[in-house]
Amino acid sequence: MSETKSQAPKKLFIKTYGCQMNVYDSERMAESLEGYVPTDTAEDADMILLNTCHIREKAAEKVYSELGRLKPLKALNPDLKIGVTGCVAQAEGEEIIRRQPAVDLVVGPQSYHRLPQMEARVRTGKTALDTDFPEEDKFNHLKGRGQKARRAPAAFLTVQEGCDKFCAFCVVPYTRGAEVSRPAEQVVREAQELVERGVREVTLLGQNVNAYHGGKTLAELIRMLAKVDGLERIRYTTSHPNDMDDDLIAAHADTPELMPYLHLPVQSGSDRILKRMNRKHTAESYLRLIEKIRSVRPDIMMSGDFIVGFPEETEADFQATMDLVEEVNYGYAYSFKYSTRPGTPAAERPQVDPAEADERLQRLQALISRQQYAIQESMVGRELSVLIERAGRQDGQMLGKSEYLHSVHIDNATAQIGDVVRVRCTRAMTNSLTAVEV
Ligand code: 5AD
Ligand code: SF4
Repeated sequence: MSETKSQAPKKLFIKTYGCQMNVYDSERMAESLEGYVPTDTAEDADMILLNTCHIREKAAEKVYSELGRLKPLKALNPDLKIGVTGCVAQAEGEEIIRRQPAVDLVVGPQSYHRLPQMEARVRTGKTALDTDFPEEDKFNHLKGRGQKARRAPAAFLTVQEGCDKFCAFCVVPYTRGAEVSRPAEQVVREAQELVERGVREVTLLGQNVNAYHGGKTLAELIRMLAKVDGLERIRYTTSHPNDMDDDLIAAHADTPELMPYLHLPVQSGSDRILKRMNRKHTAESYLRLIEKIRSVRPDIMMSGDFIVGFPEETEADFQATMDLVEEVNYGYAYSFKYSTRPGTPAAERPQVDPAEADERLQRLQALISRQQYAIQESMVGRELSVLIERAGRQDGQMLGKSEYLHSVHIDNATAQIGDVVRVRCTRAMTNSLTAVEV
């Protein structure tokens, strides 16, 4: 290698799969690696990290085939190191390096604070593996968020990890481990650091965020964050119906910084299936819960997750899901075909014919799309508040998010990135709204 190359900052390419918690982890990993600048092409990189997700089938196979595609890049750049992080790293561990020797580094979601030492090790030509659930708290070992350049006004902030619920279909309790919450003071400090970098909105993340218990409840944490100067908006995701306590519901009424949007997965509308899923709630209790939330915050935008074709799901069970969707009227909903995860209880149950499951998924998605679009249309003529996140492609156009999480295009905007502005919605499109400032 030439001297100039070794003195130039090295380039880091991270490919992120899966959920928002992985997006957050990727950001923190990038911030922790000193001497690297980000690049958005793998071909340029001196370090490639695949931050993986294990929630659905074939996740590991997809990672192996991606690694197979990346391997030839090592011949072009002998400095290139390749790492696998996230939930597939946790689940597969050493097997990854055994099956794909081009991999230098494997690190699980709980130990990525050790990445700088691991990077130093792989630079000496060795491999590094760490899939511990360490005693120490990774967040105490990562650098603060304050040092770097200004960043986008909306940020994720992980406050809770892991899950104790053991839904019968889900690998999360196995890959991410038991529920752990970050201390409230640590979260507030990080929010303050983000605000110093230009952040105006945080979305608090957790696999079961409303089970948060970092010395405070989630409602208490939200009220603490609402007092942070310069932090204008708070959201949280993803929640379990059984952890929606009265105080959290009250926070939706009494804390203006808490946005009127709630992602509350129910998975199915059939009690028979909910029982088999080990959800520990019924369709009726979920509907009553939403009623209660709407009684204090009538405009709250509901969002949910659904699994179609869960083992032993009949047409009548599926119809119960469709009925529940009709009753709730979702602004957003994510629906998935059931995916068998070895090691989970549902994997042992009689499976639904995949063609049948596909057909149900299509029907559910059509219903959800209709609902989503009707709600967007109902926004036309209404006033919304929008956090401006970036400039649009056309002159004078700005893009941002409404309080209900709709993407909004504002034409002839005077507002700048980071401002929260009042707008009037002029048109609903499939995935966004247009608006003018008022
Ligand atoms: N198959 C299909 N969907 C799943 N999810 C979790 N596990 C599975 C699985 N085995 C979905 C659930 C969850 C979302 C994050 O992913 O709907 O809420
Ligand atoms: Fe998985 Fe259920 Fe835990 Fe959500 S609540 S992470 S679906 S086990």
